Amino acid sequence: MAKGRPHQMASSGITARGIGMTFSRRGASTTVLESLDLDIAAGSFVTLLGPSGCGKSTLLKILGGILQPTEGSVHIGESTAADAVARKDIGLVLQRPALLPWKTARENVAMLRDLAKKGTRGDGAADRALELVGLTHAADRLPHELSGGMAQRVSIARALAMDPEILLMDEPFGALDAITRDAMNETLAGIWAATGKTIVFVTHSISEAVFLSDTIHVMASDPGRIVEEVTIALDRPRRAEVLDTSEFLTYSTHLREQLVGPEARV
Ligand SMILES: Nc1ncnc2c1ncn2[C@@H]1O[C@H](COP(=O)(O)OP(=O)(O)OP(=O)(O)O)[C@@H](O)[C@H]1O
Ligand SMILES: [Mg+2]
Repeated sequence: MAKGRPHQMASSGITARGIGMTFSRRGASTTVLESLDLDIAAGSFVTLLGPSGCGKSTLLKILGGILQPTEGSVHIGESTAADAVARKDIGLVLQRPALLPWKTARENVAMLRDLAKKGTRGDGAADRALELVGLTHAADRLPHELSGGMAQRVSIARALAMDPEILLMDEPFGALDAITRDAMNETLAGIWAATGKTIVFVTHSISEAVFLSDTIHVMASDPGRIVEEVTIALDRPRRAEVLDTSEFLTYSTHLREQLVGPEARV
């Protein structure tokens, strides 16, 4: 477990074994993932880091039970991924927030929960989720009245309102400027510490991965596979100042070498 973690709540780990994914189209087939094994501990913050097209989103969709792999199996705790999805144990946050433009922030956050769970309307879960992402003041705004970072926080709140054990996040901050991104990373680290959820996070950003993660799985392409697992032993809670430490730089340099090769050394 990560150092400085205040408490650990009930959550599930993820086990993936022998995952392969081959897409077939008009007689031609492309193998995107091959022989991939992954163990994600309950309550941990794990990142999939790799170049564009290496299969990160495909793997995340397989872990989330949205896509059925052509080889291998995924278990969430003792259940199959499909059963966990049916129980709403898995929440998904995508790169683009996809909010309904005619609904307020609060209504967007409450919507999925109200659809999924009978009798939840007006139970305050949406407001609690908005508070977790620091948007209480913007609950009544429409999406066009929100900045990109705020809209993304609404989409995180929407997933949190479902109270899933596992949160899968596909480059949720990819479209944000560096300063907003740093702030969002601090917010997310705080939410993770407060809720004890298992988070699987996809990013291209080395610094984002180091800042957030307990463990980083470095991926390579053709076919997509995990080439290295790096444990980040920086103390928690982590603040933006950690980005300037030599320990942080050592991790970043190592990861850049894994992704780009030794010429990346600065
Ligand atoms: N439904 C599909 N049919 C055919 N090929 C697909 C399909 N989905 C993904 N691919 C291919 O699988 C590969 C991996 O795609 P994926 O979206 O998982 O990559 P990624 O690592 O998430 O990339 P990025 O960082 O750009 O989002 C790509 O070559 C893509 O073209
Ligand atoms: Mg992707």
